[in-house]
Amino acid sequence: MAKARSVYVCSDCGASAARWQGRCTQCGAWNSMQETAAPTRGQASHRFAPLAQASPVQPLAQIEAREQSRNPTGISEFDRVLGGGLVAGAMVLIGGDPGIGKSTLLLQALASISTTQSVLYVTGEESAEQVALRAQRLGVADAAVDLLAEIRLEAISAALLEHKPAVAVIDSIQTLYSDQLSAAPGSVSQVRECAAQLTRIAKQTGVTLILIGHVTKDGALAGPRVLEHMVDSVLYFEGDTHSSFRLVRAIKNRFGAVNELGVFAMTDRGLRGVSNPSALFLAGHARQVAGTCVLATQEGSRPLLVEIQALVDSAHIPNPRRLSVGLESSRLAMLLAILHRHAGVATFDQDVFVNAVGGVRIIEPAADLAVALAMLSSMRNRPLPEGLVVFGELGLAGEIRPAPRGQERLREAAKLGFSVALVPRANAPRTAIKGLRIHALDRIEDAVRWLQES
Ligand code: TYD
Ligand code: MG
Repeated sequence: MAKARSVYVCSDCGASAARWQGRCTQCGAWNSMQETAAPTRGQASHRFAPLAQASPVQPLAQIEAREQSRNPTGISEFDRVLGGGLVAGAMVLIGGDPGIGKSTLLLQALASISTTQSVLYVTGEESAEQVALRAQRLGVADAAVDLLAEIRLEAISAALLEHKPAVAVIDSIQTLYSDQLSAAPGSVSQVRECAAQLTRIAKQTGVTLILIGHVTKDGALAGPRVLEHMVDSVLYFEGDTHSSFRLVRAIKNRFGAVNELGVFAMTDRGLRGVSNPSALFLAGHARQVAGTCVLATQEGSRPLLVEIQALVDSAHIPNPRRLSVGLESSRLAMLLAILHRHAGVATFDQDVFVNAVGGVRIIEPAADLAVALAMLSSMRNRPLPEGLVVFGELGLAGEIRPAPRGQERLREAAKLGFSVALVPRANAPRTAIKGLRIHALDRIEDAVRWLQES
């Protein structure tokens, strides 16, 4: 009898090798090669045949492009991240920490869609009773949602082909296994195989599939990165499980804009959309305190005001700590270098901690000026002026670069009662904004000088 072959698959990038290696030659990750059963020969060629439909070469101009029709889920914040709603035959992957509300949101979405279309909820993590209990809590126990408690891919495929729901949720992709492979559920090969087969079904039948995915400790989706390439949209849940706010962000969307943010509040009856979130991430101090600065940021099409906090404190170890929560830590090191070189502020003997309030993650560089001012304020232990809002990117040469949609940020800040704004010169509005004094800046030195004078 032939010996069962095994291959080693990288759990980070999905590359495979015939022998075990300490380091993946494809992505360079250490200790990521895991043994899995090799697929039997001859199967791979025809299993995916339905995906490879023959099509002739044709000129681009002659291809009729129809606007994809969208199915709103009825949950407006969720529709916002999806770019208007679900598209037939699309695969959506939604990731997030355990307990953040993935199952809750999707059960609510299915219940809402079920008023007009057929839907199926496949649960691999919880029993049918547990899902029913949650539905009761959400007040949607009577919704026409079909439920399937199953983790075998072949059974799920059969159910999808038989019932042909308009939308199906798989909770979660890491619990599924296929008979074709002997590897354990959640392993790279199983996740990849199950996702590939489900993609085939989605494209073939026009079922919209929403896959729930687990994330690792560093916040990346567990399993191979190939999952992100296979699907049409990738959404991530963000936010602190301790606070009641939950953010859903689109990382990839073949049918709409990315970086739209959906904002929800977790209540005792599930997730409720927050349609006007601009003031959500302000800490609300009774009076101005040192080490905080309000940033006017832009998330997708909405401006958002977020409080940035910094603590700069003398270090008692030779290697001072640099820690950032919700902001990029490599960017923090860069900002400290800019402050040193261009503003004469040295922090080599100081621990530096920065944090964006409310668990929101800020990736845009326009947050630089706010982070720098919060650090300066903490270092000098002097609060920034009352009613101050800032934005602007810092360049390595010390210049302050403009940010997109400056006017909208400023108008939102004025609406929320802010009275002073420090902005890059190119973002200074031509017509005055009522209630807002604008100071246009060219360089970080200007900002530091303005602080000393005010
Ligand atoms: P859940 O959707 O099970 O999380 P995930 O599927 O992402 O792991 O979220 C569960 C959390 O939300 C749980 O800790 C309890 C809380 N919750 C509420 O606060 N209110 C509710 O109505 C529901 C259903 C859950
Ligand atoms: Mg869950």
